[in-house]
Amino acid sequence: MIRFIKTKDYADMSRKAANIIGAQVVSKPNCVLGLATGSTPIGTYERLVEGYENGDLDFSKVTSVNLDEYRGLTHDNDQSYYWFMNHHLFSKINIDKNNTYVPDGTIEDAEAACKQYDEIVRKSGGQDLQLLGMGHNGHIGFNEPCDKFVKDTNCVNLTQSTIDANARFFASKEDVPTQAYTMGIGTIMQAKKVLVVVSGADKADIVEKAFFGDITPQVPASILQLHEDVVVVGDEAAFAKIADRI
Ligand code: GLP
Repeated sequence: MIRFIKTKDYADMSRKAANIIGAQVVSKPNCVLGLATGSTPIGTYERLVEGYENGDLDFSKVTSVNLDEYRGLTHDNDQSYYWFMNHHLFSKINIDKNNTYVPDGTIEDAEAACKQYDEIVRKSGGQDLQLLGMGHNGHIGFNEPCDKFVKDTNCVNLTQSTIDANARFFASKEDVPTQAYTMGIGTIMQAKKVLVVVSGADKADIVEKAFFGDITPQVPASILQLHEDVVVVGDEAAFAKIADRI
């Protein structure tokens, strides 16, 4: 089942999403959080840091498993998702760094890297809450439109549209890695609860397709229609095409 929470703007979306994650941490201090990168969750992480700083949130027993990582980027590369998570969240809260996991983009052997990560997620006990952003083509993690839903962690070739969209973070388009390791759709779907954050008019089309269109691997996020506990927190602009149906 999908519930929609319409918010005024990005700041409001970020507060409400952080409240949902915060409630998870308060109600189960040793929970497993599935975390996401991209620009959309940055405000959510800022609010979580605030929650920690004012004493409302204690992350000391939390474990985190991130969705994805560029293949080939080292941990000190400021475009790696490892770096992103440390910069935006882990270094600013009291989570135990030993309990934070991001797929290891430095492992060259793709099969070994993916196997190792699946084992990490399995050993963690699985995500109590999985945070997701969504790409313009409906990708979640880095699961790109495809002719099947891939279950486990896998190595993907990024589509040109994703490379173009992410180029804004790199010095040039040529610097954007062309491959990534990503949790599979099955690994995402096993989360007990899924929280999707979407913001901006440029996401309005894909929000409609993903949550009201056909369930198809060509729109990876559409699989979420089959999950029993999904909350989509989005601002008015992102919900523009579904406003009369929620
Ligand atoms: C990247 C990430 C996704 C993210 C997507 C959307 O490709 N791998 O996890 O959801 O970008 O990013 P943004 O939130 O910047 O639109």
